[in-house]
Amino acid sequence: AKKDVAKKQAVKYVQVEDYAGSIIAKLTALFAAAMKAAYPVAADVGILITEATRANFGDYQFNSAMAVANTLTKAGQKTNPRDVAQNILAKLEPSDLIEKTEVAGPGFVNIFLNRATIAKRVGQVCMEGVKAVLLPRVASRRAVVDFSSPNVAKEMHVGHLRSTIIGDSICRLLEHVHFDVLRINHIGDWGTQFGMLIAHLQERFPNFLTETPPIGDLQAFYKESKKRFDEDEKFKARAYQCVVKLQAFDADIVKAWKLICDESRKDFERIYERLDIKVTERGESFYQSRMGAVIKELTERGFLKEEDGRKIMFATGQSVPLTVVKSDGGNTYDTSDLAAIKQRLNEEKADWLIYVVDVGQSMHLETIYAAARDLSWYDDTKKRVEHVGFGLVLGEDKKKFKTRSGDTVRLTDLLNEGLTRSLAKLKEKERDKVMTPEELKAAQEAIAYGCIKYADLSHNRTQDYVFSFDRMLDDRGNTAVYLLYAYTRIRSIARVAEVSSDQLKNHVKTKGLTIDHPAEFKLAKTILKFSDCILSVLDSLMMHQLCEYLYELATTFHDFYSECYVIEKDKEGKTVTIRYDRLVLCEVTADVMADCFNVLGIRTLEKM
Ligand code: ARG
Repeated sequence: AKKDVAKKQAVKYVQVEDYAGSIIAKLTALFAAAMKAAYPVAADVGILITEATRANFGDYQFNSAMAVANTLTKAGQKTNPRDVAQNILAKLEPSDLIEKTEVAGPGFVNIFLNRATIAKRVGQVCMEGVKAVLLPRVASRRAVVDFSSPNVAKEMHVGHLRSTIIGDSICRLLEHVHFDVLRINHIGDWGTQFGMLIAHLQERFPNFLTETPPIGDLQAFYKESKKRFDEDEKFKARAYQCVVKLQAFDADIVKAWKLICDESRKDFERIYERLDIKVTERGESFYQSRMGAVIKELTERGFLKEEDGRKIMFATGQSVPLTVVKSDGGNTYDTSDLAAIKQRLNEEKADWLIYVVDVGQSMHLETIYAAARDLSWYDDTKKRVEHVGFGLVLGEDKKKFKTRSGDTVRLTDLLNEGLTRSLAKLKEKERDKVMTPEELKAAQEAIAYGCIKYADLSHNRTQDYVFSFDRMLDDRGNTAVYLLYAYTRIRSIARVAEVSSDQLKNHVKTKGLTIDHPAEFKLAKTILKFSDCILSVLDSLMMHQLCEYLYELATTFHDFYSECYVIEKDKEGKTVTIRYDRLVLCEVTADVMADCFNVLGIRTLEKM
């Protein structure tokens, strides 16, 4: 039931102004009108249009006749679904989209699309572009996406990598349909761990105020300070004093804090740069003054309870309370998230808040959202606030992803290994012999980073996923390597034939686009499905659905290309015939693939 609510909100939230190329939306509108005309009493029955499950069932199916018959039977009008389907079809307005319909089985309606209309749509994509013809237009809204969000002084780990990759792709998707997106890096840059870090810094580098300390290896530095903290009572006491001073903005202590944050930031930025990630840093420290205001508000409005010296808040439907003020007077992760959600709703005036965080934090986030609703900070029928969760990254042994020695894998090392392996792969295929060094480097990077991103995005994010370089660098199956190769090859068809995109546009403009062969028709239909795929992913934020679509498009193209000549050559290899209609299909396929790669954050290559 909870899922249904989320679903309903989602549909309402993304306000579609124009369904553009959506075939499902068109068919839904046609059948809704027919059903209303035939059975006004069954107005509540939803219109269910799906793709046909088998080729001989046509292209799409209308599946609601059974539900209508049920409703009628319950109302005392006994009838059977086949008759219902027949009566609905009798009221179906003629449309150039539909070639024919037939009632099948217990009352399904098989829908066969009109080839000329499909061809015309694809021709339009060629002339006007994917965005203009196939992208739905939605009412532009403001979204805040909280993603990546590593912690200062601790190394960014694979969990943060997942958040970074998925979060960036969600931002790209929303930006693609013209949302106003604020990308936020909610870095853990405040809190008690800074006490021990600063105390340790003072001790190890007493001159830190005048000389920049060499703390390049922050993780080692963190480990040292943690060890001292756990073993030395005096040190511990000093660490606590440092926290108090930091929260009181003592100048020297703030300087030490900044030094540590700057060092961490350098590490994070190197990773973001390599992966083409743009994100605005706004860590927990940003909310320092706002936390005070939130505590004041909660106190005045009577939302806080005292328990063992702590101030806590219970939120509706949540068993574990939020700790807003600790017994020592300090704030917590809960306090900063309360201040952050309020800031995003009130100051940023966001309509949609998305938190891309591992599923392990689901209870924490749901409690924050429930508290924000209890405090009337937002109305969940007007704004959408959601946790986009994801599972763990596992090693090939299906256990938590670790190095052989049992340490957490450093992201830098991981990306470097990706580079080494992708270069080896390119050399194995002797690509180094035909590419310039620059081209080879571009290919090496695009493959390494592309395959790491794609492996993550192509898995259902709610589940754990097994990280395997062997698997992700395979050039068969649903992998970035296969898709990037396919893309490069499709792009090269027109280039080798020396046909420009203007020539193709001109062909469509003067002669139109003709589709005869079943493999051409299947490819054309798959191209147009891009609209429905985007609509569906906007609703679910499940990026693997886009990956599945991309893979389906590539394999459908593969079938088309092995069955249909595009360029015919004579024995000497000279081009004799160019099938322009088919070349249009090639280019449009590549255009749609390019859009998918763009949303996934994967760089494409001219040569590979
Ligand atoms: N820094 C946190 C962590 O590493 C993630 C922060 C997620 N965002 C948030 N608003 N709580 O676990």
